[in-house]
Amino acid sequence: MIILKIENLKKFFGGVKAVNGVSIGIEEGEILGVIGPNGAGKTTFFNTICGVYKPDEGKIIFQGKEIQGLTSFQIARLGIARTFQIVKPFADMTVLDNVISAIGINRYKSIWGSFRNSRVIETVSKAKRLLETVELGGYEKEKAGALSLGYIKRLEIARALGINPKIIMLDEPCAGLSHDAIKDFIQLFKKLTIEGLTIMMVEHNMPTAMALCDRMIVLDYGEKIAEGKPKEIQGNEKVIEAYLGKEEEDA
Ligand SMILES: Nc1ncnc2c1ncn2[C@@H]1O[C@H](COP(=O)(O)OP(=O)(O)OP(=O)(O)O)[C@@H](O)[C@H]1O
Ligand SMILES: [Mg+2]
Repeated sequence: MIILKIENLKKFFGGVKAVNGVSIGIEEGEILGVIGPNGAGKTTFFNTICGVYKPDEGKIIFQGKEIQGLTSFQIARLGIARTFQIVKPFADMTVLDNVISAIGINRYKSIWGSFRNSRVIETVSKAKRLLETVELGGYEKEKAGALSLGYIKRLEIARALGINPKIIMLDEPCAGLSHDAIKDFIQLFKKLTIEGLTIMMVEHNMPTAMALCDRMIVLDYGEKIAEGKPKEIQGNEKVIEAYLGKEEEDA
């Protein structure tokens, strides 16, 4: 079943066509990779879906409902969570409080309305459960700022899961991680999708994307140049050209 449908999505910055007419259907429970060279529009594509930017054109249909034009807060509440390329937890807060504050987003009404003790207990135990899920159970009392990058990224995922999302959008979750940490992440993501979550992720590294994703789309200069299973993408000439071309430009 298609959970999220993107139709002809466009986002321009002046003359820069950062996202230029991308369409894609995302299947419930899949891991969809969004890949492409630097500046291809991957982050902008994510930002436009989750409401950081309003699209210049196109439709975003989540569970049959058009959501383009809603604020990022409204979109999060509908069940699309997001982590960012540059991680930013509250460094002075404990790991546990970071997750509790994220859960709060979903509950702000009850927190401002009837702030009951049972709710607090429920929220704390949910936060602890999420930390177990991302294998940060032993780090509850640490300050988030003291964690290594790999653990901060786990924390960001626990925070994103705090709003009970249907879809989680991860921007380069594996960037900067060791080989072993990436392997652990692959396990974690597969586990989450088995539990019914849908994952969209930007992944710059091809081998990681191949290992992780059920399906991929490839962006280049804001346009979708390919779509398919990792094996189908691997040999795609347009894709190889886009990556090689960029390496030459960067050299
Ligand atoms: N806020 C902005 N204002 C103006 N131009 C922007 C803005 N954000 C992105 N761009 C431009 O849009 C294009 C796409 O950028 P984007 O960050 O989406 O690419 P990306 O694929 O995520 O790149 P990377 O792999 O480096 O993270 C680039 O040309 C970039 O310079
Ligand atoms: Mg990016």
